[in-house]
Amino acid sequence: MAHMKLNFIIAVLALMVTGGALGADMPELARKLNCTACHDIDKTIVGPSWMNIAKKYKGVNRFTFDDRDYPLVEGMMMKVSKGGSGNWITTPYPMPANDAAGTKQAEIRELVIFILGLKK
Ligand code: HEC
Repeated sequence: MAHMKLNFIIAVLALMVTGGALGADMPELARKLNCTACHDIDKTIVGPSWMNIAKKYKGVNRFTFDDRDYPLVEGMMMKVSKGGSGNWITTPYPMPANDAAGTKQAEIRELVIFILGLKK
């Protein structure tokens, strides 16, 4: 009995540490590609929170990059890959290139789709 109670307390503490069962976590891939240095799911760090990015592009299906118009996912992949600035007044910094060599496009696509899928 005392043992079950202890397990319960540990489970509650674990939930508090991870931010609760409802909050999505940054995916392993985001850690691997170092996105987590500047982004979090629901907090602005250097870059906008991924929740806010999802909200901003809710219902949007085009994206302008380098003065050219692309389908949202494709354009967003270019921005993440090559870096850029100007879309977020919450941050005065540009995003540096995350895939200048173009060798991680499949992973970048997966992350962009994950981010846009956070919209509620
Ligand atoms: C060194 C910091 C940094 C890193 C690392 C970084 N970002 Fe960003 N990111 C930013 C900043 C700053 C912005 C805001 C750019 C702007 O104002 O247009 C941003 C914007 C974005 C946006 C929104 C783009 C737009 O124009 O609205 C997406 C999507 C994004 N980042 C995804 C990623 C992904 C995926 C990774 C990892 C592969 C990543 N970022 C790594 C700093 C970073």
